[in-house]
Amino acid sequence: MIRPVRKAVLPVAGLGTRVLPAGKATPKNLLNVFDRPILSYVVAEARAAGIEHMVFIMGRGQEAIEAYFDNNPELESTLEAKGKTDLLDEVRAELARPGEMSFVRQMAPLGLGHAVGCARDVIGDEPFAVLLPDMLMAAQPGALAQCVAAYGQVGGNVVAVEPAPPGEAHKYGIVALDGQSGRLNRMTGMVEKPPPGTEPSNLFISGRYILQPEIFELLESQGSGAGGEIQLTDAMVRLMATQSFHALEYEGTTYDCGDKIGLLRANVAFALMRPDLAEAARAAVTALL
Ligand code: UTP
Repeated sequence: MIRPVRKAVLPVAGLGTRVLPAGKATPKNLLNVFDRPILSYVVAEARAAGIEHMVFIMGRGQEAIEAYFDNNPELESTLEAKGKTDLLDEVRAELARPGEMSFVRQMAPLGLGHAVGCARDVIGDEPFAVLLPDMLMAAQPGALAQCVAAYGQVGGNVVAVEPAPPGEAHKYGIVALDGQSGRLNRMTGMVEKPPPGTEPSNLFISGRYILQPEIFELLESQGSGAGGEIQLTDAMVRLMATQSFHALEYEGTTYDCGDKIGLLRANVAFALMRPDLAEAARAAVTALL
């Protein structure tokens, strides 16, 4: 029986060194993409995929993330008094639903694998999703919803992948496939940041996963890997010895908002995708060229 995916882990505790100084005092995932923080899009994507509970893995000084999803009574009553109901509705749509979010502290940024391991007690013994919030995906249906649909067909573990731009595969986690036909293929391996020329494919792991809870035991004993960090990829490779993994080449585009140029691209792309403001955004961008 394929058990449903109800919970998701959103690790946001990284130091965000690639977006300094912007990410120094503002958590990287609260940086702006057009008119809302990156996290707003990712939470909407998780909800659209049927996720009922989100576990944020937090670092020091990231309290603003909790505040973003909490009430702001002064702001809301002012908008109400001024009759700004459209804005009020938008602000309220961002609020956490009762009991929807947990916030777990990662005491030190020891790596993504360590961050996901911090969610163990809150997730418990059921399959769960991981969304890397700095990877923003423009997709319809959403990237995680596509993963959940694929998981419904094959069960086990599913990771979203996407072709890396030419010459850039060595920057990412790359999958090895057991033959390729269509978009959903069985995986035979994975490697984090392979040296140029050794990549087993050009498909990179783009930041959406569905994992079985047995990963937690492996994460507890996982030593540090690439970059001296405890890597989720290394624990997934070990889990692959006993469980199936599939790679889904999802339909859509990833914007790496953990990178300055990626964040700029996301800002322009998401502005141009907004039906209400696309025309003004296009005029503003064109005027600069
Ligand atoms: P990244 O490597 O992209 O994030 O980790 P980073 O470490 O913040 O970035 P740079 O390289 O210094 O700019 C992928 C995701 O894993 C989270 C990050 O917040 C990001 O969402 N992460 C990473 C943690 O939560 N804890 C960690 O110890 C490491």
